Amino acid sequence: MLIPSRTQVGIVGAGPAGLMLSHLLHLQGIESVVIENRSRQYVEERVRAGVLEHGTVSLLTETGVGERMKREGMVHHGIELRFHERGHRIDFEDLTGGKGITIYSQHEVVKDLTNARLAAGGQVLFEVEKVSVHDFDDSQATRSKPKIRYRKDAQNCELTCDFLAGCDGFHGICRPSIPAAVLVEYERIYPFGWLGILAEAPPSSDELIYTYHDRGFALLSMRSEKISRLYLQCQPEEDIDLWPDERIWQELNTRLASEGWHLTHGPILQKGVTGMRSFVVEPMQYGRMFLAGDSAHIVPPTGAKGLNLAVADVRVLARGLADFYATGRRELLDAYSQTCLRRVWKVQRFSWWMTSMLHRFPGDNPFDNRRQLAELDYVTSSRAASQSLAENYVGLPMEW
Ligand code: APR
Ligand code: PHB
Repeated sequence: MLIPSRTQVGIVGAGPAGLMLSHLLHLQGIESVVIENRSRQYVEERVRAGVLEHGTVSLLTETGVGERMKREGMVHHGIELRFHERGHRIDFEDLTGGKGITIYSQHEVVKDLTNARLAAGGQVLFEVEKVSVHDFDDSQATRSKPKIRYRKDAQNCELTCDFLAGCDGFHGICRPSIPAAVLVEYERIYPFGWLGILAEAPPSSDELIYTYHDRGFALLSMRSEKISRLYLQCQPEEDIDLWPDERIWQELNTRLASEGWHLTHGPILQKGVTGMRSFVVEPMQYGRMFLAGDSAHIVPPTGAKGLNLAVADVRVLARGLADFYATGRRELLDAYSQTCLRRVWKVQRFSWWMTSMLHRFPGDNPFDNRRQLAELDYVTSSRAASQSLAENYVGLPMEW
């Protein structure tokens, strides 16, 4: 492969943010190179969430990468909130004027985007090492161009760009490369995690079930008509070895129990524990570097917003870059962080709210328990409250 030395936008990270940005830029005639430190197979098989908002689905469709999603994705028009062993449906279709969500795994989106980029002659470099970013500080007297340095196939490489996009996730190198003094970080770490399984079992419900239970939160989700995805609230550092398959099924049965309802079991294909945090960095840009997706913010998975928020960021960034290359104006680029953060904080609020309503917190304050149940009762009985949940869940409109 010919190693590129120059491009318009250098993108670090081939997750949903980096790949979608590269795809959107290509549609505007802007060149980019994506630099990824993992292998293509690793990135395409990494199990993550699987809920696409209405707007994410429209964008994938309108930009020509939604064909397989339309075929294989499962369209849902509501979710169930379950507490006191009873289910309450939130009807998205009715509450949002016909909108819904699509269940389609993040790694399938990543596969579709990678295929589209490579088919269009796009450059996505996998398995690079020692990635670093340089010269993106606008105030530099020298005004030398931003660069990405990395090693590929035992060679030292340098890519010179007009702009850099830090799409390298929470543990990436782009955010820490910005001088710490210009960034403010906002963070909340939750005192619990999720134990997630993928099981070869037909989903026991047509829609997702979010359950509040004395023993902790549980979620029934799915990947296809044959595969269930299930989660249990657990300790943040839970030892997965203490959870043999029978214990997981037993706990799921207890927490999800509801009269006349049966949880389908099957072989567990994969299991793991993830911690939960809310995190935002401000601003999401510095000089000629822009942060997008998990490199700039993390949401707890309860609202299923991570991928959708990453896609919303890169829509804003692609538009700003397209305007710059078409007109030479930087106004939209300069407003990138401000534009994104309005949505980011609303999504943070929603994800925090869903998390706080549905999980048991250590200390087990009986007041909080009653308050959570009252909240669930209110959300499932007031049209105004259900509508607020529904419009956030299917996705808030883009505000440019
Ligand atoms: N150099 C190159 N690539 C890197 C580096 C680095 N130093 N560090 C991390 N990466 C890569 C990761 O391997 C990963 O493929 O950057 C990519 C970041 O992708 P994601 O973590 O998927 O983040 P993002 O694209 O912002 O998507 C957000 O991902 O974390 C989930 O659930 C979250 O759905 C959300 C979505
Ligand atoms: C998932 O299917 O992985 C999933 C669904 C809903 C969530 C989080 C994860 O809120």
